[in-house]
Amino acid sequence: MRLQDKVAIVTGGASGIGEFTVREMLKQGAKVVIADFDDAGGQKLADELGEGVSFIHVDVSNEEQVEAMVKHSVDTFGKVDILFSNAGIGSTGSTHELSLEDWNKTISVNLSGVFLCAKYALIEMVKQGSGSIVNCASILGHVGQAATASYTAAKGGVVNMTRALAVEYASQGIRVNAVCPGYINTPLLDQLDDATRKHLVSLHPLGRLGESQEVANAVVFLASDEASFVTGANLLVDGGYTAQ
Ligand SMILES: NC(=O)c1ccc[n+]([C@@H]2O[C@H](COP(=O)([O-])OP(=O)(O)OC[C@H]3O[C@@H](n4cnc5c(N)ncnc54)[C@H](O)[C@@H]3O)[C@@H](O)[C@H]2O)c1
Repeated sequence: MRLQDKVAIVTGGASGIGEFTVREMLKQGAKVVIADFDDAGGQKLADELGEGVSFIHVDVSNEEQVEAMVKHSVDTFGKVDILFSNAGIGSTGSTHELSLEDWNKTISVNLSGVFLCAKYALIEMVKQGSGSIVNCASILGHVGQAATASYTAAKGGVVNMTRALAVEYASQGIRVNAVCPGYINTPLLDQLDDATRKHLVSLHPLGRLGESQEVANAVVFLASDEASFVTGANLLVDGGYTAQ
């Protein structure tokens, strides 16, 4: 098993890419903290999976709650080997109509949340002298798209923060990478109408949207010792979207 005896925290672990990653990490031998602000969804998943997982409520934009999330991992499973910083929200709309409040909300979850989770996980990882952080960015951290100013700004920030953290903590045995998914069939895309979904499919050379399991596979690779010489990478899992 690829994550035998590892302890992982997965933020946004109650749904979509996070949920599939929780399941895959457990299958690969890890103990997993499911961290989410969806209490019902997170607890339901923890109850289903049983031994080896633990749910904790967290809003990743709340510093005290993030600190408590990392403490929960240490108290429950003894350590934090892996952080998958995946919690995120979507945001669309014309930029000239975007309120500062909406901008701040997206940035606080999708960018500041990634910083806060890294900060408190790193405190433990530095003590341990080892660790692997995987951030969830997006193709929209690499290319632009209309009407997504706050989301693309946040994901672009995650892409380059990943590189900065990789350089900063390499000498302490800590690797930091990101996955950058294309459009993936998750509840985040539930609100799309058929025409938009078809259009999105046409933008992926592989001719379909991605599945959460395909992102989970990439996350487990980056998190595992198989990726022992990989740090600062932003791994595109996008069906060729950004290759064009
Ligand atoms: N689905 C896609 O097409 C796609 C593409 C590229 C990147 N992503 C990124 O993948 C990640 C996961 O998205 P998904 O598609 O699985 O979405 P999802 O909505 O299915 O899951 C997101 C999870 O994050 C949780 N969450 C949201 N805000 C939170 C907060 N402040 N604190 C704690 N938990 C919070 C939600 O409750 C939910 O369980 C996000 O970072 C998203 O930006 C998704």
